[in-house]
Amino acid sequence: MNANGITAAVGEPRPRVEGRLKVTGSAAYVADVPMPDLAHGWMVTATVSRGRIRDIDATDALAMPGVLGVLDHRNARRLNPDAAHHFGPDRGLPMLQDDAVPYAGRPIALVVARTPEQARAAASALRVTYDAEPHDTEFSMNHPAARPASTLFGPEADTGDLEAELAVSTVVVDEVYRTPEENHSAMEPHVATAWWEDGHLYALDSNQGPFSISQVMAMLFFIDRDRVHIRAEHVGGGFGAKTICGAQIILAAMAAEHFRRPVRVALTRRQVFLAIGSRPPTEQRVRIGAGADGRLRAVHHHAAFALSPLAEYIEWCTEQARTLYAAPAIRTELSAVPLDRLPPCTMRGPGATPGSFAFESAVDEVAERLRIDPLRLRLLNQPAASPVSGRPWSTRRLITCLEEGARRFGWAQRDPRPRLRREGNLLVGTGVAAAAFVAGVFPASATIAAETDGTFSVRVGASDIGTGARTALIAVAADALGVSTERIRLHIGDSDLGPNPGAGGSRGTTSCAFAVTEAAKALREKLDDPARPVTVTVDTTPLINWRPAEERNTYSAVFAEVTVDPATGEVRVRRLLGMFAVGRVINPLLARSQLIGGMIGGLSMALHEESVRDPITGRLVTADFAGYHISAHADVPNVEADFVADYEPQDPSGFNGLGEIGNAGVAAAIANAVWHATGTRHRTLPISLGRVV
Ligand code: MOS
Repeated sequence: MNANGITAAVGEPRPRVEGRLKVTGSAAYVADVPMPDLAHGWMVTATVSRGRIRDIDATDALAMPGVLGVLDHRNARRLNPDAAHHFGPDRGLPMLQDDAVPYAGRPIALVVARTPEQARAAASALRVTYDAEPHDTEFSMNHPAARPASTLFGPEADTGDLEAELAVSTVVVDEVYRTPEENHSAMEPHVATAWWEDGHLYALDSNQGPFSISQVMAMLFFIDRDRVHIRAEHVGGGFGAKTICGAQIILAAMAAEHFRRPVRVALTRRQVFLAIGSRPPTEQRVRIGAGADGRLRAVHHHAAFALSPLAEYIEWCTEQARTLYAAPAIRTELSAVPLDRLPPCTMRGPGATPGSFAFESAVDEVAERLRIDPLRLRLLNQPAASPVSGRPWSTRRLITCLEEGARRFGWAQRDPRPRLRREGNLLVGTGVAAAAFVAGVFPASATIAAETDGTFSVRVGASDIGTGARTALIAVAADALGVSTERIRLHIGDSDLGPNPGAGGSRGTTSCAFAVTEAAKALREKLDDPARPVTVTVDTTPLINWRPAEERNTYSAVFAEVTVDPATGEVRVRRLLGMFAVGRVINPLLARSQLIGGMIGGLSMALHEESVRDPITGRLVTADFAGYHISAHADVPNVEADFVADYEPQDPSGFNGLGEIGNAGVAAAIANAVWHATGTRHRTLPISLGRVV
């Protein structure tokens, strides 16, 4: 309770403020917002993996009812070829600019009509012919085009004498792990409605960061950023695929200009699979050497992933190897393989999730060969400071996560030998994995106005993609202002609200909370002086310490129990427990829910999800929920997520992000449990029936 008798809102389990709107169907998502004079665009995508468009014959389509026209590379306006995105220039952004087809699924035309049904029917009447060229879509880490990936957080690790340490190790694990291409499956497919007025572009767009999308759109259309106004009030999930400036908004804006009226482009589930970035497949070689005492001596993690020559991307799989354990020699390498495929983008715990599957499986294999309990091995090798940079940790409560998780899970009763526990026909096993995810904040701005009715208007360009960011930021603002949450009027989801990183990289809420906290501080100082105005804006750009003395991460320990039917190969997860160290938790109800969601994503990755490309055509053959399996309710057992007491000293309020860590360690924990149940190590995901029998 503060001096005014107000109970702190941060730390309280409050239901989401827009929950009622959502469950009653009255929350307006982009496609729910009515618009006068609206036309509808249907996206047409390329069916060859590489080549040129020979012709797009629209004669029949143009004669169909309601059709307003077809946009393609012959009549579309010019877009900026130098537009850039998160990782630099992105030549995939300018669409409909030429006849080149760089990947199957590339948008090549937009059919615009009065209704979506008319647009769809006309799109099917479009006759597209190609001059196909040989394509290369088959990924392998030994592909001749493999090259070093760009770096994200400094150079890859190279400490100690790796080969010498391997040579004196008692056991050396040297294995290759594979994860498939995976696709984003947000509940709400990508959709945008765009219109132009007086040289300004307006759009409602389902995305994870209206401000950053407005920057990209401004670049693409050669206009000032303050002439682009993008809103995303409610967003039905993102999975990372809505951090990018999607085809829907680019095409809707082009068509709205061309046809001089508002245009909506709503992608189907299939179009999201084909045209909106996926997690790239990875192949990862992990070598770990350890002494008979269980001390790691050498760690070598070389990960490779596929991307497109159109745009840079980084699937940072090597984070775990440089963070989780001490070893005198640590080397990480990251390779990128450019192929004629859909450009990948961030997806649910990017890098850390496939990376931890490989790395934490390999660590388990070390325990197996040394006949040491895998939990004990992990505890034995905890580093006092970063084993690569030597920098001290900011808060690091991983040991508590491992120990408290083990206690709750009943790990002490576990017999480490595999294939011993049986229940009827089923084999039963348990496994553990640890994970880390880099934490921090990006620049954001917040504006707070003290209103005459005693309320405070808080404006911050945050995105709430279903995580509860809105609810969390109301609590943060209330505490920072020292008032009850009823007095906070929060406005989010709008590019006009100022610079904001959006909901991504586990940094959305932390970055916005930082800005709101600083703005509240500045406002309270001014409130003491009645002569001063009572609206303040704070941009955190100059406040961010990009080179803190300590390394800042979130951590998790995940425990899994599985049953395996040796006759059918069916793996079922029976129990999942995640213990998380994520700084001070803003809202335990919503944080727990978000982490459980992440854990279910990890379960889905472990057992089900796999995008398959036909090697002959290079096309995705699993572009729907019939071909691409995600975990359903019946697959999801008893999932528990809880937090250890934690406080991040680099944050003014002790917060860290928890958007991605829920996902990261789960696949390894499940794979390790499958080994314990069966005695067979699965190094390729998903662990589907055919791989188990
Ligand atoms: Mo997150 S995968 O950066 O949206």
